[in-house]
Amino acid sequence: MRTPAIIINMKTYAEACGAEGQKLAILSEGISKSSGASIALAPQQIDLGLYADRFDIPIFSQHVYNAKQGSTTGRTTPEAINSIGCAGTLINHSEYRLPAEDVEALVSRCRDLGLTTIVCTKDAEESRQYAKFGPDFIAVEPPELIGGDISVTTANPEVVADSVRLVKDAAPEVKVLCGAGVKNGQDVRKAIELGADGVLLASGVVKADDQQAVLLDLVSGL
Ligand code: G3P
Repeated sequence: MRTPAIIINMKTYAEACGAEGQKLAILSEGISKSSGASIALAPQQIDLGLYADRFDIPIFSQHVYNAKQGSTTGRTTPEAINSIGCAGTLINHSEYRLPAEDVEALVSRCRDLGLTTIVCTKDAEESRQYAKFGPDFIAVEPPELIGGDISVTTANPEVVADSVRLVKDAAPEVKVLCGAGVKNGQDVRKAIELGADGVLLASGVVKADDQQAVLLDLVSGL
């Protein structure tokens, strides 16, 4: 995935279900193409195949399980998302935390499949720890700021700058995203000034009254 990037996690918001969610995907694809901005989507799990098939922007899973293929009813495996054309997956999102050994195993399993991995972390120390597993991206998101009105880049710029520094020390090839409360182009600009390679956001765009205006504003910060 090209950087700097804007990655939209659609979570399980009502506004991201079914046809409503597809409207956001159409807008994201259109703005990515017209502006040249790197925009990726993590739709609801049930929509992964549809989006990967229909939209010409990178599609990420919100989660994968470190479960073997076979007698593991109800899990979504890395191999399954790879088989339907997903670009990659979030791992260890704050709303779906995993034991460290599963994070490490999933990064390695996804790497073998050629899937892009975005490992979410809660703070700079965890960013350093998980960078050593060699994901493509670390996405630092302080849990207390997720879904809030104040962007991490304003409320806690240190956690972004510290994550960038510690990740570069531990594994220089790993890129860093930041998220939590990101809402507009100014937040994106600040993230990049702090050394990040882009943002991971959800409510700021998914729940916006005018998603197109928000997307255009976000892209203006790249
Ligand atoms: O994965 C993105 C996320 O947790 C941040 O959510 O709503 O604060 O942009 P939000």
